[in-house]
Amino acid sequence: MNFSNRRRAGIALGGIALAFAMAAAFLSARAQEPRPHSRAEFMRMKLDYSKKILEGLTLEDYTAIIKGAQALKKLSEAAEWEVPTIPNAGEYVVFTSDFQRLCDDLAKKAKDRNIDGSTLTYLRLTMNCVNCHKYVRAVAK
Ligand code: HEC
Repeated sequence: MNFSNRRRAGIALGGIALAFAMAAAFLSARAQEPRPHSRAEFMRMKLDYSKKILEGLTLEDYTAIIKGAQALKKLSEAAEWEVPTIPNAGEYVVFTSDFQRLCDDLAKKAKDRNIDGSTLTYLRLTMNCVNCHKYVRAVAK
């Protein structure tokens, strides 16, 4: 391979690498698309999933309940959640771990097609939402 051929090969390889880098950037941007961008947006998604679960409970649609519970848990585990924007993050984590455990419980009760158990767990989950918000408001004062 003479010098100019090697250069050409180098340019071609560089081009391929660049194309890959651009494709990777494009794909990762797309992969992040449905993710919430702020805690407020994130919480709005929580509310939407909670409503879906309530709908599932009223229609005895166990698949919807399970899907909602799993989505809520995933949201709760998302990285955005870990951004410590409120003081006393330690106590805050207690609500989060309780929240995730309740999501698991809810999915399990729905898998067992236990409507009363699912409804009760949903109420406990709702209380967890409200209690964390109460806590957040108290420390914000
Ligand atoms: C571990 C604590 C915690 C739990 C549990 C929690 N939240 Fe929140 N929530 C927050 C915080 C902190 C904010 C303030 C968000 C902000 O200022 O962006 C908030 C704000 C919100 C908001 C207002 C968002 C806006 O538009 O400003 C909604 C709606 C909401 N939460 C719904 C829920 C629902 C529904 C649940 C339960 C399924 C829930 N949250 C559980 C901590 C929590």
